[in-house]
Amino acid sequence: MAILPIRTLPEPVLRQKSKRISNIDSAVRRLIENMRETMYAARGVGLAAPQVGTPLRLIVIGIPEEEDIVLINPQIVRRSGERLVDEGCLSVPGYVGQIKRAESVTAKGRDQNGKEIRIKADELLAQALEHEIDHLNGILYIDHLESTDNLRKIAPEEIEF
Ligand code: NI
Repeated sequence: MAILPIRTLPEPVLRQKSKRISNIDSAVRRLIENMRETMYAARGVGLAAPQVGTPLRLIVIGIPEEEDIVLINPQIVRRSGERLVDEGCLSVPGYVGQIKRAESVTAKGRDQNGKEIRIKADELLAQALEHEIDHLNGILYIDHLESTDNLRKIAPEEIEF
């Protein structure tokens, strides 16, 4: 396993639309393990493959004290409600912004064994799913800012995805 360098703005891979994964082969499995290790090392709660320079539709989420989630070709199939959240991104270091996210989402995709899964989420997990799936479409949380007044310097204990 390896800790991969995290790509930051303005690297073009962050603005690309990532490709679907058609075959979960050993290279994809290795990428999943490396992304997990990279996420833990960076103390992030989620990571999308383009953040490590690979434009494939793959995300990992690791919320403290909850089981890790790996989602391949993930999609949000339902969103409901709206709330204001503080959000940071490992690819936009040093800042946190206040944006609107859904209160709850349903996402679907495949796990690392190719099994179809569906996740109903709220709170931090819903936010992480929206944030990471945005990455696969070249979208960063700063694109959701209504004003740069809603952006501020990050404090040490704040979470990043
Ligand atoms: Ni991010």
